[in-house]
Amino acid sequence: THLALSPPTSRVLTMGLAEHTSRIVSEFDFSDEELNRHVQEFLEQTESGLNEDGTSLSQIPTYVTAVPNGTESGVYLAVDLGGTNFRVCSVALNGDGTFNLTFNKVAIPKNLMVAKTARDLFGFLAKQIELFLREHHKEHFEGATSRRNTSSFPEGYHDEQIFRLGFTFSFPVQQLGINKGNLIRWTKGFDIPDAIGKDVCKLLQDEIDRLGLPVKVAALVNDTVGTLMARSYTSAGKHRSILGAIFGTGTNGAYIEKTSNIKKPIKGEYNTSTGEMVINTEWGSFDNQLNVLPSTIWDAALDRDSVNPGIQMYEKRVSGMFLGEIVRLAIADMIQDEDTSLFRDTNSSYNDWSTTTNISPKSGLLSQWGLDTAILSVAAADNTPELSTIRQELENTLLVYTPALEDAQAFKAVAGAVVRRAARLSAVAIGAIVLQSGKLEDPAEEIIDIGVDGSLVEHYPFFRDMIYEALRAIDGIGPSGADKIRIGIAKDGSGVGAALIALIAQKMEKPGDF
Ligand code: GLC
Repeated sequence: THLALSPPTSRVLTMGLAEHTSRIVSEFDFSDEELNRHVQEFLEQTESGLNEDGTSLSQIPTYVTAVPNGTESGVYLAVDLGGTNFRVCSVALNGDGTFNLTFNKVAIPKNLMVAKTARDLFGFLAKQIELFLREHHKEHFEGATSRRNTSSFPEGYHDEQIFRLGFTFSFPVQQLGINKGNLIRWTKGFDIPDAIGKDVCKLLQDEIDRLGLPVKVAALVNDTVGTLMARSYTSAGKHRSILGAIFGTGTNGAYIEKTSNIKKPIKGEYNTSTGEMVINTEWGSFDNQLNVLPSTIWDAALDRDSVNPGIQMYEKRVSGMFLGEIVRLAIADMIQDEDTSLFRDTNSSYNDWSTTTNISPKSGLLSQWGLDTAILSVAAADNTPELSTIRQELENTLLVYTPALEDAQAFKAVAGAVVRRAARLSAVAIGAIVLQSGKLEDPAEEIIDIGVDGSLVEHYPFFRDMIYEALRAIDGIGPSGADKIRIGIAKDGSGVGAALIALIAQKMEKPGDF
C-alpha cells in the first residue's frame, strides 16, 4: 500500500529521511478550516442522533436528569468494566464534595473478553464482588439469618443491609431505565455475541443472586456519565460541568441536554422536573460514513484489519487503542521504502530490507497492534538534543538495535503528528458540545467546566494544550470563548460517578424523597 505514496523513482533517490518524514507528517495535517467543517458536521450529527435512532451518533438518553452538588452522602458499591481491568470499589461520599474510596483491581482474563457465553464473564465479575465484600465489608455478611439463591434480594437481609451498586459498563447500551439497558455492540476488542441485545444489569444481578450476595445493581452507568457526575460532585456546587469525556483506550462523551431537544421517544420513566437529561453520545462512532473525517492510507488499513470495520471511525483516529497502530503502519511503510533509510543497518547493502535494517524480526513494528501507544508519550516527552530516552525505548520495547539520532527524530515527528491530529479531532467533539450547550452566550456562566479522564489526557504531554489551541480556532468559540472553557481531570470518575448515580437511583425508589 505504501506505493500509493511513493513519488517516481528518480525523485525518491534524491529524497533524504528528513524530507520523507515531513511528507508523512503532512499527511496528518488538520487545518483550522477542516476543524471548523468537522464541528459543523458534528453539530448536524448531534441533532440527527437526538431525532432518531440508527444514525452514527447514538445519543443515548441515560435517565440521569440531575447532576450532584456535593452534599450527597452514604456508602455505595461501584464496579467498572470497560477496558483491560475490572475494578470493584466501595465509595463513602462524605457530603462535602470529598470521598473515600477502597478498591480491588483485577485484569480481565483475555479468554473472558471473547467468552462463549455472557455467564462466563458476568459470573467472574460477581465472584470478584464477593471477594471484595469478604475482604473489606465483612460486617455486611453478619446478621443475615440465611443465604439462599433468590431472584430478588437474598433472604435474611434487611433493606438497609443491601448495598446499592452502580455498574459502570463502558460499551454502547440502549438504556431503558436507570438500571436497565441492552447491549448494542461490543467495542475495544471485546466480543461475546451471546450478550448482544441482553440487559447487562440483569446479567450481573443474576450472577450476584446466584452467590447470594447482599447487593442490588441500582444503576447502569457509562464511564463518561460517571466522569461528568464525579466532576460535578467534587466541585461541590461551585460550578456545574456540562460534559464528561474519556480520552483513553476508547473515546466518548456524555453531556447535559435539554429534554425538549430530544425529539426521539424516551421509553421508560424518569424525573421530568429538571428539564434536562444526560446524553451518552457514543461519539466514537461520529462520522462512520466518512463525510468529513480525514483518511490516510494507514487509517484505511487499520480499519480494514480491525474486528469492527466501518464503525467507531472517529475513535479509530483519536483514542489510545488505535494511535499506536496508525504510527506503526506509517513507520512500517517508511521502513519498507529502501530509499528512506529509516532504521537502516549501514553496514549492509540495501538489497533485501529485512536483512539490512537494524530491527529484530520480532519487533512490534512488524506486527499488528505491536506498538503500544505508551511509547508515543515517551517520544513526545523527550526533548533532549540526543533523544536518548526515545532511542533507549526504541531499543528496549521495539527491538531496534542502536537507532541513530535521525531515526529517533523521524519516529518522534510521525508519532507527534498522529497524536496532534487526534488532539485537534478531540477539540471537534468538545467544541461542538460547548456550542450545543449555548453556555458561551450566557453571561451568568463564567466558567464552562468539562471533566475528562483517560490515559491520553492524563499521560500524553501537552494533549490538553493542543486541544485548547484548536478550540481557539473554532468559529463561535474563538480565543475569548476558549478562555472560559476549563478542562479538568476527574480522578476516579467512574467509581465515584457510579456511586452517585446509585444514590440518585435509591432516592428514586422512594419517590417522595425525590
Ligand atoms: C468506547 C465505548 C464507550 C466508552 C468509551 C470510553 O467508545 O463504546 O461506551 O465510553 O469507549 O471508554
